[in-house]
Amino acid sequence: MSAKLLDGKGLAQTMQAELSGQVAEFSRATGVRPGLAAVLVGDNHPGRVYVRKKQEACAQVGIESWLHELPSSTTQGELLALIARLNAAPAVHGILVQLPLPRHLDEAAIVDAVTPLKDVDGFGPVSLGLLAAGRPRFRACTPYGVLQLLQRNGIDVTGKHVAIVGRSNIVGKPLALMLLLKGADATVTVCHSRTRDVGAITRSADVVVMAIGQANYLKADMVQPGAVVIDVGMNRLPDRRWTGDVDFEPVGAVASAITPVPGGVGPMTVCMLLYNTLQAARLQVGAGPAEPLKQI
Ligand code: GUN
Repeated sequence: MSAKLLDGKGLAQTMQAELSGQVAEFSRATGVRPGLAAVLVGDNHPGRVYVRKKQEACAQVGIESWLHELPSSTTQGELLALIARLNAAPAVHGILVQLPLPRHLDEAAIVDAVTPLKDVDGFGPVSLGLLAAGRPRFRACTPYGVLQLLQRNGIDVTGKHVAIVGRSNIVGKPLALMLLLKGADATVTVCHSRTRDVGAITRSADVVVMAIGQANYLKADMVQPGAVVIDVGMNRLPDRRWTGDVDFEPVGAVASAITPVPGGVGPMTVCMLLYNTLQAARLQVGAGPAEPLKQI
């Protein structure tokens, strides 16, 4: 493989060390420790693993965290009541509802119920609306992590063609909006399940971001030589190993840079959640937002 490996795990560690200092400084200045409440409903095994990683990372940087684990029989009313309590709790600056929720729950109504000032996942309509309006408050963690990974590896997307495969509200759509912000200035194409010739579009891209959740979807002949390939996919193989949406070895022979799975985008998502939680605490205690991270 000739491509440079984009090491998200290492970068997340570096950024978390920086964040520890910022959290300590904030707590010294205000007497407030940033706090994150995580909500996990039902038997969501990958969700439980992710939430544990998020809590470990909180502990590492000095953010307090609480886990609210609810049974799969939880009703919409019970979950809304918990969110109302967390919305009103002064020690809780960020609220994270791990998705997906059990099918009987109305996910959109739950996301909408998180008060916008605590929406550290950036999934709510106010966060997404502000981003679409070009004045982001909380940026969704995975796309924000992708931008940091590019920026801190010296990959400038100004004027470049970025092809995103996947249009979810969690990754594809907010990533497209972030790449269009002034300062990022990319030219963006979003492909999805009804796109006619995905390969023709990805082949014309300088950067390809895969976020569809289909193992090995992106083949070497879908990538132009020298392109940068970012793999947001997390797919569990029958032998229980994790793999992304990219046919890693052959694509790595064509690309100039590529993210591994695991150890690429995943750790960056956690890191950006911590960053958003510190921002939320700043906003809520009136300390004002910190300088936003340079996007690209
Ligand atoms: N499910 C998959 N990714 C995420 C994420 O970033 N945040 C939450 N809350 N749920 C998810």
